[in-house]
Amino acid sequence: MKIIVAEDRAAASKCAADIVDHFVRGQRRALLGVATGRTTEVLYAELVRRHQQDGLSFAGVDVYLLDEYAGIDPDDPCRFRNVVQRELAQRVDLRRDAVHCPDPDAPDLAGECCRYEYLVRSAHIGLQILGIGSNGHIAFNEPGSAFDSVTRIVTLSEQTRSDNARFFGDDRPVPERAITQGISTILAAAELLLLACGERKAAAVARAVHGPLCEMVPASALQLHASATVVLDPDAASLL
Ligand code: GLP
Repeated sequence: MKIIVAEDRAAASKCAADIVDHFVRGQRRALLGVATGRTTEVLYAELVRRHQQDGLSFAGVDVYLLDEYAGIDPDDPCRFRNVVQRELAQRVDLRRDAVHCPDPDAPDLAGECCRYEYLVRSAHIGLQILGIGSNGHIAFNEPGSAFDSVTRIVTLSEQTRSDNARFFGDDRPVPERAITQGISTILAAAELLLLACGERKAAAVARAVHGPLCEMVPASALQLHASATVVLDPDAASLL
């Protein structure tokens, strides 16, 4: 595992953007796994800037979402599909059909999880962008998720629902369930890039990077990957 501690949050986002930029420019057809959250919002803003100012093209890119809330209105701005559309897809030259995500409105949710698992596995993601939850989750693989887990429906932990309440405001509850790629689905990507910023992530980062492999710390599974890079700001790295 390669660990990079950048000077500050902006530098960490730029460093992560360099890795994505290099990956995207390096091939005619690039399969990119995307995460959502405040952390990746800054990364996507930097990628959009590079598209607008430095000629970074996403015309040959397909993006695959890690996860999606269940029981959420299709037009809800917090729906991850809408987040990725708003923060990235609609602001760069991604093809209209290039955003792939699990469908939480499918009548057969178990079947939808199988469909998405198969789609992601057969696509062979080249670079998977990840964030980390304050409880060590990756995607929505909460503590206790098996390292050999695949795409499935999960119940969100109280910690995650409380962390993500800031996106929903006071009037809407955070959904209780989600569809998420499993840990083994994520580990199947050729390259992993985890970006974490802020003190709130420091303990989870330390346990993921230096702790033992442990299903109670889902992000520790990154230690099993041959090509994982963790990019941190000084606050997120403060307990390393
Ligand atoms: C959500 C997502 C994760 C993401 C995490 C961190 O729970 N499912 O993929 O890593 O949030 O989000 P933030 O960057 O807002 O802290």
